[in-house]
Amino acid sequence: MPVPLLLGREAELRLLRTSIQEVAAGGGATVIVGEAGIGKSTLLSAAAESARECGLQVLTTAGVESGSRLPFAGLRQLLLPVLGSAQGLPAAQRRALRSALGVPDRPDASEGPDSGAVPGPFLIALATLNLLTEAAADCPLLVAVDDVQWLDQASQDALAFVARRVQGDPVVVVATTRSDHPGPFLTSGLRELVLGGLDAGSARDVLRRHAGELSVGDRERILRASQGNPLALVELPLAWRADRGPAGRPPSEAVPLNQRLEAAFAGRTADLPRRSGTSSSSPPSTRRATPPRSWSRRPAWRASHSESTPSTRHWTPGCCSSTDDG
Ligand SMILES: Nc1ncnc2c1ncn2[C@@H]1O[C@H](COP(=O)(O)OP(=O)(O)O)[C@@H](O)[C@H]1O
Ligand SMILES: [Mg+2]
Repeated sequence: MPVPLLLGREAELRLLRTSIQEVAAGGGATVIVGEAGIGKSTLLSAAAESARECGLQVLTTAGVESGSRLPFAGLRQLLLPVLGSAQGLPAAQRRALRSALGVPDRPDASEGPDSGAVPGPFLIALATLNLLTEAAADCPLLVAVDDVQWLDQASQDALAFVARRVQGDPVVVVATTRSDHPGPFLTSGLRELVLGGLDAGSARDVLRRHAGELSVGDRERILRASQGNPLALVELPLAWRADRGPAGRPPSEAVPLNQRLEAAFAGRTADLPRRSGTSSSSPPSTRRATPPRSWSRRPAWRASHSESTPSTRHWTPGCCSSTDDG
């Protein structure tokens, strides 16, 4: 899989790499929080890539906005690659997990008949934790959960349970969620990495790569409108070109929105100023953006209840070393 371009997130990536490198000394969980397009998934991919390079197993799952709300669909996606390790779980947990995930259990006469009772969420969460720690005993694990806010609720609850309890095991959980969707990952006291807009230099760099042919003046307008939001830096030039058309209409101060931006900020673009005479049913490309106020410029760390003290122990297989922070 190609590694996505990641500019201006050195501090954030360094922090995630540190927990990956120190996984042998104990795991932990970080929630990457931010608005649409701010770069959460891109940072998570970079962390997953680092983990692979370090020799960790990487398990992934992701919520999908229009996706299945079936209970445990997200958990199933995450756990399928390690379900083989479920044989080591206590029978009740193994059955609970397999029943929740819709995976038939292997009949084992020595365990007696299955009661057929629907397993409770606690048993399933506990079985998930034990399965992951069992799998991590062979090889440390990164659990990468993207777009938590769109996972089914049962998976969110089970994974938040896991995230709160991996400190003693070689399991690192990194999850992403939108700041405006409260859920168990944001109320569990997990360490939060709050992403703001890219710094000016990185934003310019992203824009240069995506819109190098635009004039300096056009790029400056897009820079101002984007306020460092990478999705805006990628998409606004496309909308800008489409808006100008082949005749090269001179640009106005306002910056057009395109469909991807509209979708990313659905529910919020209603607050954006519109070109006069534009109705809400107008094509997306006619919408004009003043960025949402929360396109903030600075990333921030939020205090964690469970921040571990720095450790000098590192996971050694693969490339990781204590000085590798680039
Ligand atoms: N740090 C970055 N450097 C360069 N491009 C980035 C960066 N972060 C995100 N992008 C680009 O911005 C777009 C949106 O990023 P994404 O990670 O999908 O945002 P989010 O997951 O927060 O909605 C993608 O096209 C991605 O490639
Ligand atoms: Mg994303």
